Amino acid sequence: MKTLTITRPDDWHLHVRNGAILKTVLPHTARQFARAIIMPNLKPPVTTVSQALAYREEILNALPVGVTFTPLMTLYLTASTPISEIKKAADAEHVYAFKLYPAGATTNSDSGVADIEAIYPLLTALEEQDIPLLIHGEVPDQACDIFDRERVFIEASLSKIVNNFPNLRIVLEHVTTIEAVQFVNASGNNIAATITPQHLLYNRNAILAGGIRPHYYCLPILKRERHRLALLEAATSGNPKFFLGTDSAPHLTTLKETTCGCAGCYSAHAALELYATAFETANALDKLEGFASFFGADFYRLPRNTETVTLTRSTWTIPSTYGDPENIITPVNAGEELHWQLQ
Ligand code: DOR
Ligand code: ZN
Repeated sequence: MKTLTITRPDDWHLHVRNGAILKTVLPHTARQFARAIIMPNLKPPVTTVSQALAYREEILNALPVGVTFTPLMTLYLTASTPISEIKKAADAEHVYAFKLYPAGATTNSDSGVADIEAIYPLLTALEEQDIPLLIHGEVPDQACDIFDRERVFIEASLSKIVNNFPNLRIVLEHVTTIEAVQFVNASGNNIAATITPQHLLYNRNAILAGGIRPHYYCLPILKRERHRLALLEAATSGNPKFFLGTDSAPHLTTLKETTCGCAGCYSAHAALELYATAFETANALDKLEGFASFFGADFYRLPRNTETVTLTRSTWTIPSTYGDPENIITPVNAGEELHWQLQ
């Protein structure tokens, strides 16, 4: 296959930050994707509709002239989110979901939820208002092995949420384990999952290949090969419960290559090409369009895009960095060759 034309995809899990980084990363996303679910874990977090609308304006203002892209805004759920804000979000034109971070689980999750059962009244409101809940599915327990935190979260918290709120639409974000795939498969159609390119392409060896490689460190952390294979099978299965969400999470190179580097892989520079590379290894390029362009829109009950994009089989080298000298970002696969390129 020399070219692959698919309906323009959407990214159902994206960090674009704000300020200078936003201006560097947004064009990469907008080149490929028509829409993206924008994560609210800014400092301070986006907890209200009015903050989300202001952030949306900042994103739209950062778009290159002539480029169209639709940011789909989310709110950061906290223990003190008022029910009235959930109702407001339900009526707001540009707000599409709430994000639940267990407190302390990941980057900028300090304002997250420490006791999930204590916020059940908020989950009742989300269920009633039919707003999707997006979950970072890891226990924040530092005593729990980092490679087990997703599985333990599913056993300890997610299964209870799903049982208690049978009509709540949930996206288990960036799944990384066989257990997550099995849980989503066994649940009703209101439970879906996003999968990142790095979790389809790499196992945990990538973080420690000949030395420490901080640009492959993200949360949930890369897992063993058998988990990667289960994710690849889910993504290429044609099951609409699994769809594209890059979790592209830019951090300045200086904040990754340091004593205590930030979690997050920057993948927006080549997201669709990375997914195509992964799907090709499974001989499943014919399944890319559903995963990238249809299933997420269907889950969020948004119209599918009508434009197309074309990938060409041609070799190019990923730059070692992006951004201006004050704001350098190192992408995942920096300096490596890719064999698919977006036209
Ligand atoms: O690796 C990650 N980075 N995982 C997350 O959940 C958050 C993200 C970020 O915001 O940097
Ligand atoms: Zn994320």
